[in-house]
Amino acid sequence: MRVLVACEFSGRVRDAFIARGHDAISCDLLPSERPGPHYQGNVRDILNDGWDLMVAHPPCTHLAVSGRRWFKGKEALQSEALNFVRALMNAPIFRIAVENPLSLISSQIRPADQLIQPWQFGHGELKATCLWLRGLPKLKPTCIVPGRESRLHHLSPGVDRWKERSRTYPGIAEAMADQWSDCPGALFI
Ligand SMILES: C[S@@+](CC[C@H](N)C(=O)[O-])C[C@H]1O[C@@H](n2cnc3c(N)ncnc32)[C@H](O)[C@@H]1O
Repeated sequence: MRVLVACEFSGRVRDAFIARGHDAISCDLLPSERPGPHYQGNVRDILNDGWDLMVAHPPCTHLAVSGRRWFKGKEALQSEALNFVRALMNAPIFRIAVENPLSLISSQIRPADQLIQPWQFGHGELKATCLWLRGLPKLKPTCIVPGRESRLHHLSPGVDRWKERSRTYPGIAEAMADQWSDCPGALFI
């Protein structure tokens, strides 16, 4: 399959699909943190390039409900962020997963199809993550572990804090590639 991983600098989901034999590429305004196929630029430029599947991680800065106390005066930025998500969701691709935390996407576009946690995929941590799916089944937990730490809340401030908070958990990246590799997407639409 030709797989586009939109808004990914870590390369984690991209490399999980490549490891399963797919022709996968990541795309981000930033360079990729690790070597591999990567388009550094605006993902809107390549949405129409004939992908079979897209996993997208759009920025949540103006959308995450955890930041609602700072929403006032941000209406224009929120509207722009929501339009970006709409562009991703409406891309001409059979199988699409959009990932975000608990977010305005649910109230302003449509409710999420699924909420997952890292502890369902081998990481003993809490981070509610929503998935909006088209042509793809819900992810099944792969390895439920006991820890429920909020590690990301307690990271010390620093320039790269947002990166540490936003990298996809490896266990979730592996589950996406494992469970979405052979989906007959058109049947789910
Ligand atoms: C929340 S982070 C997602 C990180 C991802 N989970 C990972 O593991 O790399 C959102 C990313 O979207 C990127 N981004 C924002 N607007 C974009 C655009 N128009 N095209 C491509 N990437 C974009 C940002 O640079 C940022 O790295």
